[in-house]
Amino acid sequence: MCGIVGYLGNENAREIIIKGLHRLEYRGYDSAGIALSGEGDGTLHIFKDKGRVAHLEEISGIDFVSHQGIGHTRWATHGVPNQVNSHPHDSEDGRFFIVHNGVIENYKELKNQYLDGRNFKSDTDTEVIAYLIEKFSEKLTVEEAIRKTMSLLEGSYALAIIDRTEKNKMYAAKNKSPLLIGLSDNGIIVGSDVMALVGFSKEYIPLDDHSFVKIEGNTVAIYDIIGKEMQYEVKAIDVDYLNIEKGEYAHFMLKEINEQPSVIRQIIGRYFDGEKVTLNGEVKKAIKESNRLYIIAAGTSMNAGAIGRELFEKMAGIPCEVHIASEFAYNMPLLSKRPLFIFISQSGETADSRAVLVNIKAKGYRSLTITNVKTSTLAREADHFVEIHAGPEIAVASTKAYTAQIAILAILAYTLSDQHINLRKELSKLAISMENVIDKKEYIEELVREKLTKRNCFYIGRGIDYYACLESSLKLKEISYIQTEGFAAGELKHGTIALIEEGTPVIAIISQRKINHNTRSNLQEVKSRGAATIVISTKAVHETTDQIVLDDVYELFSPILTVVPTQLIAYYAALQRGYDIDKPRNLAKSVTVE
Ligand code: M6R
Repeated sequence: MCGIVGYLGNENAREIIIKGLHRLEYRGYDSAGIALSGEGDGTLHIFKDKGRVAHLEEISGIDFVSHQGIGHTRWATHGVPNQVNSHPHDSEDGRFFIVHNGVIENYKELKNQYLDGRNFKSDTDTEVIAYLIEKFSEKLTVEEAIRKTMSLLEGSYALAIIDRTEKNKMYAAKNKSPLLIGLSDNGIIVGSDVMALVGFSKEYIPLDDHSFVKIEGNTVAIYDIIGKEMQYEVKAIDVDYLNIEKGEYAHFMLKEINEQPSVIRQIIGRYFDGEKVTLNGEVKKAIKESNRLYIIAAGTSMNAGAIGRELFEKMAGIPCEVHIASEFAYNMPLLSKRPLFIFISQSGETADSRAVLVNIKAKGYRSLTITNVKTSTLAREADHFVEIHAGPEIAVASTKAYTAQIAILAILAYTLSDQHINLRKELSKLAISMENVIDKKEYIEELVREKLTKRNCFYIGRGIDYYACLESSLKLKEISYIQTEGFAAGELKHGTIALIEEGTPVIAIISQRKINHNTRSNLQEVKSRGAATIVISTKAVHETTDQIVLDDVYELFSPILTVVPTQLIAYYAALQRGYDIDKPRNLAKSVTVE
């Protein structure tokens, strides 16, 4: 993961880089660093430490304006988060400084083969890149040395590189990890994501794999690994700056939970003309032509995919499988004759999903990406893409992207179904019902205080409620650190019920008429063993003792609604424990390493 920013131009490099790093902190936040060129020739100031970008801001004060620099916010892979392992890293002679996002898989082999006897300072895989550039630059030009280094690296990298002796130049390189070049009359900025560029550039260049970039003054030249100049596309940045601020909310997560009804309305606005769905005909055709859909995703997006399978199979009668991206990449099942791969990814950058995309593209299979980031790698590289229009999601814990993904999957499945429901009406109803739950947040906060008193917790449900439980439990565990499992209600008694003790919280989701009684029987079984239960149900199936009763909605769409109180449960459980809600420990928003 990690976020990188580099700047060369006539503005204040430190300010631009620190601002960009703040915006990229969702990619990793265990340490941060910056290298800024100094006033004299060849001088460079390095500041780096364990901790957040705010800490880096405190320790990196300089009393002059630097015009060249690179910065990094880290999610540790090789080496614990400490000062020494923080980026930037320099070459042994201190000439080349680099920041890196990615993983160099063959760094040990490279050390043995090319850098035997050298003195390494850190435990990172990154340092080897700086050392190799130094070694090759003894006989080659700097550009050739960087490209030669690139040709030896196995794995993923987005790099920004400074040569201490060249104040008017900066280099960048990319393979697998995302990297963009932002353009402006006041300089060039290199960043892992458009977010780092917003406010500075209006246009950017997305880089392809194996690109080498030379920035000199205000000019950009892009080459492939053998030094042949590459053509590139310049795109407009249309991210709304205000959308990436917290505003009146205490946390981005709370803001994003609250935004869900308006996201559903935004989706209606984007994909309907009156009652009619206005989906790209090519997407519909691609689904129709396939005889089995393969949804590939990770984490929350995979949980949305599980609902997608239900929608495609039950509404449209199209066979569908859902796979964990990291498993599928290296352990592919037997495929049908005409598969269509559907990648679901909020960020569009998840390395596990991309590994599958690269793999299936090489085999000639068709693909569709459903994403929140239309500029992302998965959006660019798939044959088709559909945007979920959730707006920037900043909190690491995904909320509005999940409900937006399901809404989009519902639209896709609906267009291929007999269309016996009024989809627009059902989605509008959902938006209102979501608002009704969000209005009950103080009550949910109290419920959490009363019931979630233990180190562990269970969510139980059946059918589509079970899939909603998987997402609900992921949310609770990732931000409150309560060990939570989402369980098929009927399966609990086959072993896991042994974990239920006096006061163990068990939260049931019940929104389906046909399984109402079964799930309630399973609830009785845990209650008899001392569980502290909470029931989230819909009006049609509710009992008077249920704590959270939601409006009735189209049953197959119920996870869009039932998940909302569980997002609030997670939020308040974390708040009551005093945790960093938007940046939970050990995590990052965009998982760009496999
Ligand atoms: O960007 P993606 O949707 O591809 O990310 C996949 C997962 O890393 C992500 O959904 C993760 O599980 C969530 N941040 C959890 O809330």
